[in-house]
Amino acid sequence: MALSFEVLGRFNRARAAQLTLPHFVCQTPLFMPVGTQGTIKGLTTNQLEEIGCQIILGNTYHLALRPTSELIDELGGLHKFMNWPRALLTDSGGFQMVSLLHLADITEKGVTFQSPVDGKPMLLTPEESIQIQNRIGADIIMALDDVVKTTITGPRIEEAMYRTLRWIDRCIAAHKRPHEQNLFGIVQGGLDPVLRDICVRGLVDRNLPGYVYFPSMNSVQVQGQNVIGLNSIQPFRIYAIGGLAGGEDKDSFWRVVAQCTAALPEDKPRYVMGVGYPLDIVVCSALGADMYDCVYPTRTARFGTALVPEGVLKLKHKAMADDTRPIDPTCACMVCKNYTRAYIHCLVTKDAMGSQLLSYHNLYYMMQFSRNLHSSIIEGRFPDEQTYLIAEAVALVF
Ligand code: GUN
Ligand code: ZN
Repeated sequence: MALSFEVLGRFNRARAAQLTLPHFVCQTPLFMPVGTQGTIKGLTTNQLEEIGCQIILGNTYHLALRPTSELIDELGGLHKFMNWPRALLTDSGGFQMVSLLHLADITEKGVTFQSPVDGKPMLLTPEESIQIQNRIGADIIMALDDVVKTTITGPRIEEAMYRTLRWIDRCIAAHKRPHEQNLFGIVQGGLDPVLRDICVRGLVDRNLPGYVYFPSMNSVQVQGQNVIGLNSIQPFRIYAIGGLAGGEDKDSFWRVVAQCTAALPEDKPRYVMGVGYPLDIVVCSALGADMYDCVYPTRTARFGTALVPEGVLKLKHKAMADDTRPIDPTCACMVCKNYTRAYIHCLVTKDAMGSQLLSYHNLYYMMQFSRNLHSSIIEGRFPDEQTYLIAEAVALVF
């Protein structure tokens, strides 16, 4: 068995769970930092453990180009290569190519793109994506999906959703290590509830016959009831909700999440891809999602911004120049215990240490934030403890 998922507590639709993966036992709601190239920029894996990171992301596309999946495999897999003992997840590569390379082109065979190494056209098929991810060896691997920006409308959305479903079959067939690695199917379908519904049904029907399917949002009220244990005969598949956080308004985004979380199996983790603002994490967790990933905390750190309970703190601001307080006086992280705002202000944009210290603090903040969500759901304090964020969310939507 490559995964088990135990719901430890619920508060309305929110759940706090324990997700057991081959390399680590994770607590949800769970924020997963993005380490595109096998590193979270500027931090050592010892520091990531110290911060409390449970699972980090790598990217098939980047790792396949350099150092190549063959070399990673030869050297014992990505865990060993990067000296990371805890869990890993790799994204399939299609999304990165579409979002990073303008020349990527999607056909039924796969994604064609121009190699940034030698400019030659290259094709990434669902089979190849899975083969590469099998070599990299992450605890969770993602199906290759056809991703369309949510701001696009028309028949392309439908085409991409059906193609994602056809590709999942090819991914399942190509997956050679189902007992060590968990394949996630991804729900696509843009902002169209009918397409999302077809996709959720398609994924559930394909992989998990016998699961309880919640056809409407209202039927998901299972407060107080723990759904524990998995069907040990089935290969485990987890469901991710993709194609979001691409510029659509919050209202549409949350509605899609609400619909998908309500329709996805209760006893499987639900992962909302590319989502990472604290506000979105609270709202998606309230809607029953469990896992998130985003470059935001580390990227914003590199631009001199710290995450704090009140929002953000811009360390570049001249008011920081002689401020002897820590970034966040309530934070227990190594950076806040040892360094002043004035010192970080002085380093920011001048020395790599500035981004490193801010990345450390920001990831610590996100991990603490996830832990608080977990315990507040279990102790019935959710969403009270996150009231200001929920209030902000409600104000945005209604
Ligand atoms: N990362 C953020 N959104 C997506 C998505 O829709 N698909 C994949 N594969 N990765 C993502
Ligand atoms: Zn701190």
